[in-house]
Amino acid sequence: MVHNGIEYGDMQLIAEAYDLIKNATGLSAPQMSGIFGEWNNAELSSYLIEITRDCLAKMDSETGKPLVDVIVDKAEQKGTGKWTSQDALDVGVPIPTINSAVEGRLLSAFKDERVAASKIIPGPSARCKVSKKKLITAVRDALYAAKICSYAQGMSLLRLASKEYGFNLNFGELARIWKGGCIIRARLLDQIKKAFQRNPDLPNLLVDPEFCQAVTVRQANWRLAVKTAVEMGIPYLAHSASLAYFDSYRRDRLPQNLTQAQRDYFGAHTYERLDKPPGQKFHTEWTA
Ligand code: 3PG
Repeated sequence: MVHNGIEYGDMQLIAEAYDLIKNATGLSAPQMSGIFGEWNNAELSSYLIEITRDCLAKMDSETGKPLVDVIVDKAEQKGTGKWTSQDALDVGVPIPTINSAVEGRLLSAFKDERVAASKIIPGPSARCKVSKKKLITAVRDALYAAKICSYAQGMSLLRLASKEYGFNLNFGELARIWKGGCIIRARLLDQIKKAFQRNPDLPNLLVDPEFCQAVTVRQANWRLAVKTAVEMGIPYLAHSASLAYFDSYRRDRLPQNLTQAQRDYFGAHTYERLDKPPGQKFHTEWTA
């Protein structure tokens, strides 16, 4: 099930990369097939990038157009992505990239409403501000960094589910198994296997030295791709969710101190203080 959740994340990230390149550069599907073909020779090498290359190259014999251009933009689903999201909520593990992939499919299914809304709600008229070459490199780096975050979330879910349900999972072995015949088979899984061999108790892939380095060197391009998508009004659901996950996970202080203050204000739910031992609870009469 979690394999399929990760698969949903990968597919949404790839769809977003395709959408941004298409709209920012005007390249045709067969031209983009060449880009995905190149990406498949390096760190993004995977079954899903390989079939994306082939899907984009396929021409429709009836219209003479690229086949993807005549396919209706409504994604269906059999439910395994949704189950992953439901289970993550039950276990209490954040998997925003996978959740956004499920929601990306749901949003796509509202085709009639979207077509009507497109005639009512204007978007920005901004054009891409960077060169085609720079944009394509940024999209590639963003895709890889966001993908690492997505796998980090899936592995984190498995780690905590393994504890909760007593599965006693071996994560390096799982990564190895997923290399054989699975839809998410990818070069990245070798790195994941090595990361868990280095540290079987790794709390999150993002703190493994190699993954930390891989994301850090792509950080500027990742932000550039998300920024370009936001400026152009192109939905970058899974990339933004991955980036926000990354920015949340690497922050030592998040704004939930304010959330705790609000909870204590309206519900006397209490809070802990930074300057007092953990577990000691405090309540304030906020209007006194
Ligand atoms: C499959 O079983 O075909 C896929 O793993 C997931 O299918 P879905 O995209 O229809 O949920």
